[in-house]
Amino acid sequence: MKKQESPVLVVERVSRSYGSLRALDAVSFTLYPGELVALLGENGAGKTTTLRLIAGLLSPDAGLIQGLGGHISWGSSEMKQLVGYLAEEPFLYETLSGFEFLELVGALHRLPRSICRQRAEALLARLNLREVAQQRIQSYSQGMRRRLALCSVLLHYPRLLLLDEPLNGLDPASVREVKRLLSELCAEGSAVLVSTHLLDVAERLCSRAIILSRGRVIADGALDELRRQASQGAEASLEAVFFALTAADGEAGSL
Ligand SMILES: Nc1ncnc2c1ncn2[C@@H]1O[C@H](COP(=O)(O)OP(=O)(O)O)[C@@H](O)[C@H]1O
Ligand SMILES: [Mg+2]
Repeated sequence: MKKQESPVLVVERVSRSYGSLRALDAVSFTLYPGELVALLGENGAGKTTTLRLIAGLLSPDAGLIQGLGGHISWGSSEMKQLVGYLAEEPFLYETLSGFEFLELVGALHRLPRSICRQRAEALLARLNLREVAQQRIQSYSQGMRRRLALCSVLLHYPRLLLLDEPLNGLDPASVREVKRLLSELCAEGSAVLVSTHLLDVAERLCSRAIILSRGRVIADGALDELRRQASQGAEASLEAVFFALTAADGEAGSL
């Protein structure tokens, strides 16, 4: 964590309920430039809710979400320019070609046309979509759709990238390329928050993890710190750490 730099995102005591169900309860964390952070938790822990709140698609019941060291507030148009958000089931316009879809997304982000085209072509090539770029999206396989959706969130070099289960259904070559693209984005000073239930992927991709359980942050730190917190040895897998920490939370919850 690069605490001397000003944060890309501050989430402070954010709560959100759906009716009587409290999906998030006073969640706090901060993301700094260059960080690639895994957001982990069992099904229903609150990962998607957290990402949708930060992306501005849901409003918090309480708490504060701020971008760029407090200069940008939640829900503002600046926040939307800052953030790239990949939903678990992303929306694509079936009748457009992959390339046209990226041009549309670039225009929404007010990217200059020539820059947008260059970036779109580079991303399509890297995610192995060049040959289908002029075909309608309705002819794409599930894997192609996911790869195109990933291109669309990387297009405008977001300062904060939020990815909800991005690697589901991707072949190993695509997973490797996505990891490279994310590392490059982080090297340029962006922060990336990736929700996943694939603990081995999180372990290879990220240096820090935030673990949610029943809507609360039960652990947040570098993987080494989490191993210590879970009383696991230096060689312990993230899976062992995850189960030790969530089991401890479950016992506390049932007291
Ligand atoms: N639109 C919704 N209406 C009602 N309950 C919801 C809605 N979305 C999520 N929930 C509930 O909120 C909790 C957190 O869900 P979610 O954020 O999707 O978790 P995760 O992504 O970690 O699986 C779950 O109990 C889920 O059933
Ligand atoms: Mg989810």
